[in-house]
Amino acid sequence: MRVVKSISEIHSLARDAHARGRSLALVPTMGALHEGHFSLIRQAKRQCDVVVVSIFVNPKQFNSPEDLTDYPRDLNRDLELLEPLRIDAVFAPSEMEMYPEGFSTGVVPGEVAKPLEGEFRPGYFAGVATVVLELLNIIRPDLAYFGQKDFQQTLVVRRMVEDLNLDVRLVICPTMREADGLAFSSRNSRLNPEERKAATVLYRSLCRAEKLAHGGESLASKLLKAIREVFAGEPLARLEYAAVVEPQNLKPAKRVISGCVALVAARVGAVRLIDNLILGPLGAAPEMLLQLALTSWPILDAGGLIPGFETETTRVKIAACRECAAIPTILLPPREFLSGYVKMYYPDRGAPRIAVIGRDAPLSPSTFLYRQPETGNRFVAGLFDLLGVKSFTEFKQRFVLTDALRCHSTAPHVAEKGLAYCSHHLRAELKLFPNLHTFVVLGDDAYLQFQRHLLERGPGGFKPLDELLQPQGWAREEVRIPTLTARLLKVFYCYHPTFGYKRSPSIAPFLA
Ligand code: PAJ
Repeated sequence: MRVVKSISEIHSLARDAHARGRSLALVPTMGALHEGHFSLIRQAKRQCDVVVVSIFVNPKQFNSPEDLTDYPRDLNRDLELLEPLRIDAVFAPSEMEMYPEGFSTGVVPGEVAKPLEGEFRPGYFAGVATVVLELLNIIRPDLAYFGQKDFQQTLVVRRMVEDLNLDVRLVICPTMREADGLAFSSRNSRLNPEERKAATVLYRSLCRAEKLAHGGESLASKLLKAIREVFAGEPLARLEYAAVVEPQNLKPAKRVISGCVALVAARVGAVRLIDNLILGPLGAAPEMLLQLALTSWPILDAGGLIPGFETETTRVKIAACRECAAIPTILLPPREFLSGYVKMYYPDRGAPRIAVIGRDAPLSPSTFLYRQPETGNRFVAGLFDLLGVKSFTEFKQRFVLTDALRCHSTAPHVAEKGLAYCSHHLRAELKLFPNLHTFVVLGDDAYLQFQRHLLERGPGGFKPLDELLQPQGWAREEVRIPTLTARLLKVFYCYHPTFGYKRSPSIAPFLA
């Protein structure tokens, strides 16, 4: 493990790693290392060839001189603790190295830095963003690791990476806690034994809110009230803020949905502590909760972390969808599709280019194509004829079959409300396949859902399917679905293969 103090030396170490084609990770810290930092480092070790940990107590992010002086520093202890982790280098620059005389540039983070920590610690995120940008520029890592513990910090850094087109991927790791739930923090060492005991109030209050949410309470105000009540019972702690927010922009949430984040900041004695929990399905793994909170952003390198993780998240979302659960349902092939068959049949999710959207076997899940790929029932035979494929092996190379509905209603037609709910899931599911350029939409329900909820056309904005398919038995158009992809997409509308005596002719020649 090299201990590097100068920018030029760490720069050349990083350049050398890149020149040899090795992936490089940066784990930025302010030292006083603990299990939270180590979890980031271990994740970096798993994912990258070369790991650099930076240790720099950044004066620009302290808005009180006492806090800066009191911040624990012990480089020798940190180096000893790092030794067994077998990282490649520690970058521990001096203040003069990072901010030489005349240094006068800073990053001004945007909206997401304003509430919560931004309000209570003016200038804090400007200091964080500036030092993180400088570190990223010095080391040029492929991946940089941050902890959920500082949830708002991850959003500020993420915004900066996106806005300034920085060539780095961020990996966010779950919060590590002591046995009694207190999140590891360098500041914990400054708590006296009584304060240390009282400090669990942050986690306890968040757990109370989480428990309410799991019990079905969806009003954020009720959760906040519960948090305040827990704090009221802890005289050594003074709550600075409690918030339940939408994860993308940290705006207060009125109603709690999966992925919302509950955050608290409090002083315990003289020590300021923060903590947060992502609210999600009962029993969800921490990585999954992070994925839910950050879902629309490629912030978590899930592909590298846990194969199939995004599919799993989508599956859990669908399984937990309260709206869908309200529709009369029978067993649900699409959930199986996500949990098992995607992994099994589409190890490369970039391969399928054409998605077929249509109900397969509403009444009998056992005939689901992916469950019994070689049975060749009426639906499968008709589908393969339509697409011009001979076998399932051929089918799965180019096509993916999904459904307008996650929940198979037993009614001949699905209520519009059901189609609306399920369109969210359909969209999430389609996003799992990044290279789709064509859709084949089968039958009335899928057509209605596609028009209304993916293309977002009004009720009078499209013809009835039967009319559209005249005279040749199929129709096509080119569309944009900005919520899915920026690409122009081809759509083919066809009869459902098991629809009475009306058949669409094969569209194979057009499906290049
Ligand atoms: P520091 O507080 O030392 O934290 C370094 C990294 O460790 C941060 O990404 C933080 O979120 C993560 N971390 C801290 N406690 C954690 C815990 N209990 N579980 C998981 N991760 C945890 O955050 C900073 O330093 C600075 O602002 C920095 C980004 C280094 C810029 O100066």
